[in-house]
Amino acid sequence: MSEPYAYHTPVLLEEVIRLLPQKSDGVFLDGTLGGGGHFRAMAEQLDAAGTLIGIDRDPEAVIWNRDRLGSCRPAVIIEQARFSEFDQVLKRHRISSLDGILLDLGVSSHQIDSPARGFSYLQEGDLDMRMDPSAGVPAHELLRTASAAELAAILCDFGEVAGAAKIAAAIKNRSAARPLRTSADLSACCAKIFKNRLSIKLLAKIFQALRIAVNDELGELQRSLAKVLDFLRPGGRLAVIAYHSLEDRIVKNYMRENERACICPPESPRCVCDRLPLFKRITGKAVRPSAQEIARNRRCRSARLRVAERTWAVR
Ligand SMILES: C[S@@+](CC[C@H](N)C(=O)[O-])C[C@H]1O[C@@H](n2cnc3c(N)ncnc32)[C@H](O)[C@@H]1O
Repeated sequence: MSEPYAYHTPVLLEEVIRLLPQKSDGVFLDGTLGGGGHFRAMAEQLDAAGTLIGIDRDPEAVIWNRDRLGSCRPAVIIEQARFSEFDQVLKRHRISSLDGILLDLGVSSHQIDSPARGFSYLQEGDLDMRMDPSAGVPAHELLRTASAAELAAILCDFGEVAGAAKIAAAIKNRSAARPLRTSADLSACCAKIFKNRLSIKLLAKIFQALRIAVNDELGELQRSLAKVLDFLRPGGRLAVIAYHSLEDRIVKNYMRENERACICPPESPRCVCDRLPLFKRITGKAVRPSAQEIARNRRCRSARLRVAERTWAVR
């Protein structure tokens, strides 16, 4: 694939640009730079008075984007960081509020297609799966040290894998003598457990569960959402693209909770909390990619975009 999307094809690009506010002198944060497709499109919306901050926990994404900044009009800040620490990045640059935040969750095509990173069940590579290879524990280490019960919880909670306890016990059993080191080892182990009943869908769920655990993806999302209201200006918008129901549920519940006005208990005869909604929902239902986009880029098929706007209400 030729530039500019050699690293990752941005998903729901037009929708993100249409729904994030068009404030050309605003301050925006892209918490998931990846190949920088959304980032560059956001930069095009800004003028020289605007500021765009891009972060990614993967050092490869940071280098890729730093090398391609070229002639950006707005002031640009690019840093390697987890999005749950976006407040610290802003603090270092003396930025106290934002007009928009984008989180495009999950992994990039570049990460999936780099066999050495171990994300793919289709290619052989070290079973690592860390987005930041310098932090945390690689997937093969997690598999070796987790008990069967812990592994079952990972498969069940993060992959919604049916029969997780049996599968986890079988994986632990089979890998006891010879620990699984590569993505091919894990795929072969699953093939032996399931024989001809192993579907690609199930294998994908097992890999997804491990990846979410290795990178604490749901924890990252929850911790960052908890900070969003401290930084979004009134009228500022939060846009999140999720790729599976676990993430989407967290985003949906977070937006719903903050769209509520009164939070008095139902038995209370009148409102005593005086709470006003902190968010106004911009997307009623989640926005899904069109059939044309899915035909161009199959990897976007599970994407769901939700956008909410900060109101003027004080917390
Ligand atoms: C789907 S890709 C983003 C693609 C990007 N929007 C584009 O247009 O190319 C997700 C990116 O988010 C990064 N990422 C995932 N979780 C992260 C986190 N907690 N903190 C920072 N970056 C994260 C991944 O390393 C990956 O590069």
